[in-house]
Amino acid sequence: MDRALTLEIVRVTESAAIAAAKMRGRGDEKSADQAAVDAMRRQLNMINMSGTVVIGEGERDEAPMLFIGEKVGTGNGPKLDIALDPLEGTTLCAKAMPNSLAVLAISENKGMLNAPDTYMDKIAIGPGYTDGVINLDASPAENIIALSKEKGVSPDQISACILDRSRHSKHIESVRSVGASVYLIQDGDVAGVIATTNPNETNIDIYMGIGGAPEGVLAAAALKCIGGQMQSRLVINNADEERRAKKMGIENLDKVYTLNELVSKDVIFSASGVTDGSMVKGVNFMDGKVSVETIVMRSTNGTIRYINTEYNSSI
Ligand code: FBP
Repeated sequence: MDRALTLEIVRVTESAAIAAAKMRGRGDEKSADQAAVDAMRRQLNMINMSGTVVIGEGERDEAPMLFIGEKVGTGNGPKLDIALDPLEGTTLCAKAMPNSLAVLAISENKGMLNAPDTYMDKIAIGPGYTDGVINLDASPAENIIALSKEKGVSPDQISACILDRSRHSKHIESVRSVGASVYLIQDGDVAGVIATTNPNETNIDIYMGIGGAPEGVLAAAALKCIGGQMQSRLVINNADEERRAKKMGIENLDKVYTLNELVSKDVIFSASGVTDGSMVKGVNFMDGKVSVETIVMRSTNGTIRYINTEYNSSI
């Protein structure tokens, strides 16, 4: 992938973040999401590439734009796969709560798992640990103990990030049973997974639990650039989800995917802040100007850039 693409992609997430931020705190998830989708699509279609959306807003019949399989870009240029979430944390944006993001990852053709829009069980840690220290099939308590030994601290020094959902009551109990703490988030597990890569700042060592499968692939794209480990498995709840997974070529529904199976080729990942968050600040509207902060990274060489852009507010 041409490295000039990095800046093109930043423009895409910046645009989506600004559009969504105009709807911040208005209690209208749908309109915020739509604004981000429209802006992201407009920008994507200006890039010289033959892009295919592999992780998108949903399947064609339920998502009018940026649906899985949609072609984006001018059609002139490299064949690329695109995973996107124009507004990750729609409720966070609608309530003006922290950590809502516009997110996109781009890879060479067939570089990312084509995951259906279902749930996914995930476990993730940041870089610097021995391979295999976490195990999706071990209990949360066992994972905490393994990680604490690896880190050389007692389990009560470990903190796990978990989505605040009733389905996670057993996870939470298990983590706390060994003395570790739980950092509950309302939404936004892409940011939750990425937070494990910088425990000195975030105080989060490990992410665990069930969230969206598309968000799982996007989070894996970020970890592929920064380093870290992740394991995941689709959670298929009914015959319709099974049919959708199979339509995407997934035969073994119980397969555990490692980080390199979720994202198998080089990737560029970009996330722009809609609301303030642990990674990037949210969009700021000032007199006649709009500022937006983005983290953009490439797995080829592990470069991580923080870009602060100021636009004329007429955009
Ligand atoms: P949306 O932006 O689509 O609302 O997703 C927010 C989110 O919290 C994701 O980060 C997470 O993976 C998923 O929802 C969890 O799903 P649910 O809210 O159904 O538990």
